[in-house]
Amino acid sequence: MCGITGYLGNRQAKEVLFSGLRRLEYRGYDSAGICVVSPTEEMGCVRVVGNLDVMEDALESAELPGTIGIGHTRWATHGAPTVENAHPHLDCDGKIAVVHNGIIENFVELKHRLQSGGHRFRSQTDSETIAHLIEEQYRGDLAEALRRSLDQLEGAYAIVAVHRDEPDVIVAARRDSPLVLGTGDGEHFLASAIPAYLDMTKRFVFLEDNELLAINRDGYTITGPDGPVSPRPVEVDWDIDAAEKGGYEDFMLKEIYEQPRAVEDTLADKFDSSGEIEVEELCLDPEGARALRRIVVVACGTSFHAGLLAKYLFERWASLPVEIEIASEFRYRNLVVTEDDLVVAVSQSGETMDTLAGVREARRRGARVIAVVNVVGSQMTREADGVIYTHAGPEVGVAATKTFTTQMAAMYVLAMYLGRLRGEVTDEKYRMIVSELQALPRKMEEVLAERDAVIACAEKYQHCHDFLFMGRSVGYPIAMEGALKLKEISYLHAEGYPAGEMKHGPIALLDKDVPVVAITPRNSVYDKMISNIQETKARGAPVVAVATRGDPEIEEICDDVLWVPETTEMLYPVLTVIPLQLLAYQVAKLRGCNVDQPRNLAKTVTVE
Ligand code: AGP
Repeated sequence: MCGITGYLGNRQAKEVLFSGLRRLEYRGYDSAGICVVSPTEEMGCVRVVGNLDVMEDALESAELPGTIGIGHTRWATHGAPTVENAHPHLDCDGKIAVVHNGIIENFVELKHRLQSGGHRFRSQTDSETIAHLIEEQYRGDLAEALRRSLDQLEGAYAIVAVHRDEPDVIVAARRDSPLVLGTGDGEHFLASAIPAYLDMTKRFVFLEDNELLAINRDGYTITGPDGPVSPRPVEVDWDIDAAEKGGYEDFMLKEIYEQPRAVEDTLADKFDSSGEIEVEELCLDPEGARALRRIVVVACGTSFHAGLLAKYLFERWASLPVEIEIASEFRYRNLVVTEDDLVVAVSQSGETMDTLAGVREARRRGARVIAVVNVVGSQMTREADGVIYTHAGPEVGVAATKTFTTQMAAMYVLAMYLGRLRGEVTDEKYRMIVSELQALPRKMEEVLAERDAVIACAEKYQHCHDFLFMGRSVGYPIAMEGALKLKEISYLHAEGYPAGEMKHGPIALLDKDVPVVAITPRNSVYDKMISNIQETKARGAPVVAVATRGDPEIEEICDDVLWVPETTEMLYPVLTVIPLQLLAYQVAKLRGCNVDQPRNLAKTVTVE
């Protein structure tokens, strides 16, 4: 969950590296650094504690001439955020500079061996070990020295390195951490993620695990465990605006308002010309679908809430039993997973280590794995048997919003597809659901137009310190998601609960200062939700309902109502989550929180 950049070309590296880091700041922002190899073959380095604003100030007064260099913005895993622990890390003589994203699991023993060989360490990080390993292995060829060093590393890494004595070479390698090469005219860019250099090029190559990249002024070569690898260039259709704020105050707000388009884009490539669902990457035929005995869902955070919704969908539309597990707990279950199971891994980044570990565990046990992922070429897409892509575009805000609603859209498609293959969904029901799916983007726009009502709500309850969110059936995952959104960007305490569970304990928390958000669209559990609202009101707690527009009853008994248009029962979650996203955003803004970079969090958690 750090951001890495590298550059070799004809521009001053300092500016190019910083520009890339600026667009990777969401990956980590507690310290940063840049190293440039100067024409006089001196290594110039600037490292700071703090986010990239601090780095920008430091660079203004730093002389860093040169057209080759590396950069890093950090989210601390080993060692506190200090200048010594900031990347790039140098070898003993300051000739080799390295940036790293990941965790070197055997760094302690390596460090001790290197220290006993006379190496002097400056930091507490695992990453610095790499610089000293390369130094130990260096015989005049940086690529070869890195290759020999990699053999000794255990754990996850995306590494970029330069050597003062080879001012026209950058080397890189990856295992379990993302790294992408951007190719320009006579220049090459390295980054942890595509948005870093979308303004410089649209042509990218994704490095695969255990591949080593060597770049020089004439081009680049990729070498895998079995020798040279042919490059696999892809043209990325994300324009740079998609990675910028586009006029909104924050990335998060922009991404909340991008949701109708994101859902539309996600649905667009899931149907064939006859209107039948077509998901080629799914590697499932009718026979395979009928042979399925169970679905196991693994995910984390917001993606877990999308998986929780999917549980209701797979049961309802495909008549399949579903196990759902928080990915980090998955391995502790003695879950007997067999080839008759379909494991669905949900991860917008495709790099979350907990979920990747779940995928590997499932595959080790013989299950087929489908990944629901937003980032093309991410690690999970290369480890799963099949992939369903969401097309949310880059999500820069740490809090997941558009990637969540697109994950739900993908789950509707997957559940309906399985239901059709298994003969569980009639043509009439299929047509109705698909019609409602296609209408969702327009209905989402209607919800987004109601932001003023949400702002009024946020102003009314901004001084409260505890919130409860409750829902039933497919409203329950949305209650969980609403609570997570509020707590992760406003730092207020919030909990999501099945509404029926309130009387088993949480209702003791209620008083006039504990607002309760009730997900109460007109559906099969509406009457029971009304009862829960009345129980809540009887304890003096204010109730904010998310309800179907035109419902006269709800307005009578609730303190505030946030309206959504009518849709079919199982599709309400895509609409009812939007007011909760906006509520979390508005409360956080009123509290002066940094909604795009909440404290203690990073966009992608690539450590376990
Ligand atoms: C959600 O707002 C958080 N950013 C976090 O819970 C996130 O959903 C979780 O870390 C999973 O990330 P992934 O979808 O990239 O796997």
